[in-house]
Amino acid sequence: MKILILGSGGREHALAWAVARSERVTEVVCAPGNGGMAQSARCVPVNLKDVDAVVRLAETEQPGLTIVGPELPLSLGVVDALKKCGLRVFGPSRGAAMLETSKGFAKRFLQRHNIPTAKYAVCTTSAELRKAVDAFHPPIVVKADGLAAGKGVIICTSRQTALEAAQGLFSGGLLGEAERQVVIEEFLEGDEISFLCLSDGTHVVPLLPAQDHKRIGEGDTGPNTGGMGAYTADELLDPAMSDWILRHIAEPTVRGMAEEDTPFVGVLYCGLMMTARGPEVLEFNVRFGDPETQAILPRLDSDLVDALEACIDGRLRETELRWTPGASACVVASSAGYPGAYKTGVAIHGLGAAGQVPGVQVFHAGSAEVGPQLLTAGGRVLGVTAAAGSLEEALARAYQAMAEIDFEGMYYRRDIGHRALKTLRK
Ligand code: AMP
Ligand code: GLY
Repeated sequence: MKILILGSGGREHALAWAVARSERVTEVVCAPGNGGMAQSARCVPVNLKDVDAVVRLAETEQPGLTIVGPELPLSLGVVDALKKCGLRVFGPSRGAAMLETSKGFAKRFLQRHNIPTAKYAVCTTSAELRKAVDAFHPPIVVKADGLAAGKGVIICTSRQTALEAAQGLFSGGLLGEAERQVVIEEFLEGDEISFLCLSDGTHVVPLLPAQDHKRIGEGDTGPNTGGMGAYTADELLDPAMSDWILRHIAEPTVRGMAEEDTPFVGVLYCGLMMTARGPEVLEFNVRFGDPETQAILPRLDSDLVDALEACIDGRLRETELRWTPGASACVVASSAGYPGAYKTGVAIHGLGAAGQVPGVQVFHAGSAEVGPQLLTAGGRVLGVTAAAGSLEEALARAYQAMAEIDFEGMYYRRDIGHRALKTLRK
């Protein structure tokens, strides 16, 4: 079977690697892909903002299965468009993707279905804003309603700054004219967990829970990024808690979406805060997480293509996923300056030696193949990933491989997984 993967980041490289392990897969095509994917798959250029162009590409390629990586094409209805042409595609419809594309929709949905989440107010006018901000105690969380590439959440220490931040979102370029909507939210405290599940619209099968590191600096300091690392570990969430999250959050969400005639087929990523009151939903994503996917998939011991097809065909009830016991870690190497301005086109060295470290996979996020050379082509460049029997061992392997890699200005956090190591050792 030919598989088409839409996207060009580390998540998509991990997906391409995982589907290539399936005996049923004969060819992997990535659109647009990156330098790492080009080494094992065929990459074809496409503008993922152009749904018609994606449809034309898929009609030419005729893949047996298309997997959509990022949220943007999902928000534009790429799944609906491909399905209309009779193509098999893994991902939610545009309507179901609203769980990620509108935070106001997600919050109201959670409330309608009694799924635990922070108290909130959805505001569309300055008067509503003032009233909402008065009703919350600082710190106050201010969120842009739509997709904001990680820049839409502002945590404010006073009502005044919350008001200014929200007004800034109203007047700034982040919100489109049609979506002048801001969510004001209660601040939640606790550990964050990324709880990803497969859904066929009715049934839910969880993947391994993971944690990511969003900040650029060690000790979780500095500006937010697309993710500087992620890890999984068998001890991260005990089975009773996992089961609770499944019954009280993931399953009610999928049931609610089905009841509202927008059945959710795809990956439901529940971003949770483990508060003193219990787990509460911070956000939904409607796709695989990045870099969580790079940490999760190397531990998958079942056929990913079978599982994704079971979602499309409504057969998830019969599907059980097997996982290699232990842990995994993905450490991201970024360009100097990221998440601010950075240089690209810098030669990457040492990938061969890094790949020799047992249990290691190097997933590319921002690289390009130029002739015989691999050059940097993004802020996040590589996700060096290792699986092992314990988190300590997985991290040791990932850092050992990282030490083999070099490019000018390369930066990575040396403390990935350290928060977990502290709690796991207790
Ligand atoms: P979101 O895009 O909603 O996931 O928010 C991005 C990040 O902002 C989350 O991963 C949290 O670290 C933080 N965040 C979002 N909502 C809250 C909240 N209500 N309380 C505390 N932190 C939050
Ligand atoms: N790791 C966060 C995300 O994928 O949105």
